[in-house]
Formats: sequence, C-alpha cells, structure tokens
Amino acid sequence: MREEILNLKNEALAQIMDVVSFDDLENLKISYLGRKGKINDFIKKIGELPQTDKKEIGNLINDSKKVIEVTLAKKKEGLTSSLLSKKEWFDLTIPGNKTSAGHFHPQTTVLNEILDIFKYLGYQIADGPEIEKDYYNFEVLNFPPEHPARDAQQTMFFDVSNTSFKEGQVIPRTHTSAMQGRVMEASKPPLRVIVPGRCFRYEQVDASHGVEFWQVEGFVVDKAVHLTDLFGTIEFVLKSLFGQSAKIKFATTFFPFVEPGVDAYLECTVCDGRGCTFCKQTGWSEIMPAGMIHPNVLSKSKIDSKIWNGFAFAIGLSRVVSLRYQIDDLRVLHTPDLRILKQF
Ligand code: PHE
Repeated sequence: MREEILNLKNEALAQIMDVVSFDDLENLKISYLGRKGKINDFIKKIGELPQTDKKEIGNLINDSKKVIEVTLAKKKEGLTSSLLSKKEWFDLTIPGNKTSAGHFHPQTTVLNEILDIFKYLGYQIADGPEIEKDYYNFEVLNFPPEHPARDAQQTMFFDVSNTSFKEGQVIPRTHTSAMQGRVMEASKPPLRVIVPGRCFRYEQVDASHGVEFWQVEGFVVDKAVHLTDLFGTIEFVLKSLFGQSAKIKFATTFFPFVEPGVDAYLECTVCDGRGCTFCKQTGWSEIMPAGMIHPNVLSKSKIDSKIWNGFAFAIGLSRVVSLRYQIDDLRVLHTPDLRILKQF
C-alpha cells in the first residue's frame, strides 16, 4: 500500500503542474482531497491493516495529503498572478501609442513641385555627377581656360597630389549646367531636360550664401526656338510656383554659354515689393538666370547649330524655398533642429 500512496501523490503533483484553469484545479482538489476523494479511500482502508503498519501508513497518507494541499495552493497563486498580468496586456480599451509621422523637408517639397511642373511641360529629368570634369563644368560651356568668367563661379579645388589627376581636372561642380554637354553628347535633339542637383562654391557663408546649394538646371534644344519661348516658360513656371498674380521682370546679364543672357526677377514675396533686407531693399529678387544657348556649346557637342538652337535656365532651389516660406536666412534650412523644421 505504501507504494500505491506514493504513486498517487506523484500522479497528483504531475496533474496539478499541468493545470491551466481554476475550474480544472478545483476538480483536481475534489478528486484527491474531497470526501469521496482518492486520499480518503486510503484512509478508509487503514482499519483493515495489521496493527503494526497502521501508524506508518497513517503518517504517510497525512504527509502526502499535506504536500498535495500545499501544491494546490501554490498553483492557485500562480494562476492568479499570470491572469492578472495577462489582463494588463489584453486590455483593448487602452488607447495605443501614436507614432509621429515625419514629413518632407521644405526643400524636398519645393523640389518635387518644380519637377512636377516640368514633367507636365514634357521635360525629362537627368542626374549627373557632383564631382565633375573641368571639360563639362567649363570648357564645353564656352568658358575657355583662364577666361575671367570662371572667377564668377567661385570654384573649389581638390588636393590631387597622390592621384593621377592634374590640378583642376576634376572639381566639385559649380552648377548643374555641367550636364548640358553630357546630355547633348549622349542624345539627339529635340531635347527638353531638367537637372536637379547639388553644387559647390567657395562662398563666405552668410544669410544668403552657402558652400553647398541646390540648383535645377533646365534646357531645351529644338528648331526655331525663340527668346519669347524662354520668357513664356519662365513665366509659366514662376506663376505655377508663386501664384498667377506673381510679378516678373527680365534684365540682361552675361554667362559665356548663353547669348543673350537674361535674369528673371520675381517681385519680392517677403515684402510685396516694398523693399526689405531679403531683396536688399530693391523690391525684386533675382530668381532664374537664363538665356539662349550659345552656338559654340551646341557645336562642341556635335549638334549642328545651323539647324538647332535652344534656351537654358537655372532655378536656385533655396531661393524659391525662402521666398515661398519667407525665410530670410538660408542657414535655417540646413539645421537639424526639429523645432524649426516642424513649422513647415
Ligand atoms: N549655371 C549658371 C550659374 O549657376 C546659371 C545659368 C544657367 C545661367 C542656365 C544661364 C543659363 O551661374
């Protein structure tokens, strides 16, 4: 009988371990410790035992009963605490944590808008290298070596010692016009191309200059293109960006790769033309340098300038952003400070 009691105890402990609900635990308790339970069955049999065994078997039954009772109580505690902790996890009424959605940098927003306008006008988007050959940045654009017009580009140079390059042979590009020659060489006119990209110049950093800036170059090569086509394009683009009431004027200017060269001005949106620090008290902001493509640029790229002509222009991206959002210091655009960037 001793063995049967020990087996019963072990069986009870194993079953208690496996229980996962209060109901099953209660049923186990009744089946082992209840009035008609298995422990009582053994107690009833004590009377039939020889006198010498009664005490020992009685103690064994009692000890087994206590072990089962303690194990049942511990299991009940365990079930209670695991249910409590589950309750916390599964409370569906607790509102979830909001994830904060980011948004585009104002410069990206404006760039996307500009690209959309030109896609609408049928332009293709081209991408080019930020480290460019002197040939594409200058020479093909009718800037001969040593020509003083190169000075206006404030070029930065690399230290080429220990490389196979000659001094100035490759440079951080000073303008995205550098893509004109690459595209003209690689494709046949008619062309309508837009080139957004980062450019680099040796500038004293201040409210309106940085050593690194974004420019969107655009050019068209076709037959019988007129200056009025250029004016119409610039007007369409600026009115799309700044509204139909935007006021625009043109003045002449010089770049070696255009003839004639023009500068498009937009009435200052910061002061509505009254004059402020942003427009240097002139009421106008220089926004798109442009011009008719110089025949030398076409012929250097093996395009017959007797058949084809065209125009080119550039948009200073940060200038558009600052006029649009009335930011009078460009350095604001390059801060990682979310208190500023969240305002746009
Ligand atoms: N690439 C010139 C610059 O950055 C701007 C320009 C582009 C002028 C196209 C005329 C035509 O200075």
